[in-house]
Amino acid sequence: MKKLLLGLMVLAGTSAMATIVGTKHDLSSAAPAGQVKTNTGQVCVFCHTPHNAAAVAAQLIPLWNHTTTATATWQMYTNANVPVANLQGTVDASPTGASLACFSCHDGTLAVGAIGNIPNDVASITYTAGGNVNGSGLITGGNTLLGTDLRNDHPIAITYQDNLDTGLNAPATLTTARLFPTNATGNKVQCASCHDVHNSTFAPFLRGTMVGSALCRQCHNK
Ligand code: HEC
Ligand code: HEC
Ligand code: HEC
Ligand code: HEC
Repeated sequence: MKKLLLGLMVLAGTSAMATIVGTKHDLSSAAPAGQVKTNTGQVCVFCHTPHNAAAVAAQLIPLWNHTTTATATWQMYTNANVPVANLQGTVDASPTGASLACFSCHDGTLAVGAIGNIPNDVASITYTAGGNVNGSGLITGGNTLLGTDLRNDHPIAITYQDNLDTGLNAPATLTTARLFPTNATGNKVQCASCHDVHNSTFAPFLRGTMVGSALCRQCHNK
């Protein structure tokens, strides 16, 4: 048993982790040096809580515990300025679903610890600045601040029209990348189509390898 435990500890010490613990999404008091830390020992609580989560209609992800961003003005992806404007999918007017969950921290308007149900080990969330996160818990710069202008980001909140765009693979063939809520024509590409926030085996939190751009080629027949 001791040997097994030691083995697990050694595994946990490597940078590739199939768990959120010890990654950039570990915002607990035990977070690695050089990134933001809070005062709670808990990890999941910044996004999920077992009780008193957001009301059902407001749950962007299962048992959502973070305050949802109130940003009202977004600039969504468009390809109107490129020589061949051939976008077949429909882009929502603003981020939807699980993508809105990401922006609740990554648009830089809300503290990473702006949560509904405070964990029992603390009275309120406090921060030690680190990485691109300041002492108030806001993501303030660097690559991780996506902001609200998404015109230079891969489209999200867009429908997947392999029926209209022959450059897209059939949804049923997707194994690592995924659509929301399920892999079906007309369902959406969201941030979590390419990212798994809980798993940094393929950094940065990708659902599969980028060697040979394999993740891109899940969807794009290129
Ligand atoms: C930074 C935010 C964040 C943190 C922290 C987080 N999650 Fe999640 N979780 C998400 C998002 C976003 C989704 C929905 C998208 C997806 O499934 O990738 C999700 C989905 C889930 C799901 C449902 C889908 C599935 O994979 O089965 C479970 C269960 C889950 N999380 C458990 C956890 C647990 C347990 C922890 C703590 C160890 C945790 N999460 C920490 C953001 C987070
Ligand atoms: C509770 C707040 C929170 C939520 C919600 C959240 N993130 Fe993050 N994320 C962070 C913080 C904090 C960092 C590290 C910021 C820094 O120091 O640069 C980060 C970093 C990242 C990184 C960079 C990792 C690296 O190794 O460089 C990726 C990718 C990422 N997040 C994707 C997502 C996606 C996709 C979602 C939604 C599905 C999401 N995050 C939701 C807080 C959050
Ligand atoms: C089509 C796939 C895809 C989608 C959709 C996507 N990402 Fe990424 N993301 C990537 C890849 C691939 C990387 C790594 C880029 C690299 O290696 O240079 C990345 C990197 C990042 C990083 C790290 C900083 C950086 O620029 O390298 C953050 C933060 C991030 N993504 C957040 C998000 C958020 C939030 C969303 C939704 C708005 C999102 N991503 C949607 C594929 C995607
Ligand atoms: C989960 C599926 C999925 C993954 C993975 C994915 N894409 Fe996409 N991508 C799409 C969809 C859907 C569109 C919109 C296509 C349309 O509506 O015609 C798109 C659009 C694009 C466009 C713009 C096309 C245009 O006409 O404006 C480019 C460029 C692109 N993707 C590159 C990439 C790259 C590079 C990667 C890997 C980092 C990637 N994609 C990963 C689904 C995906």
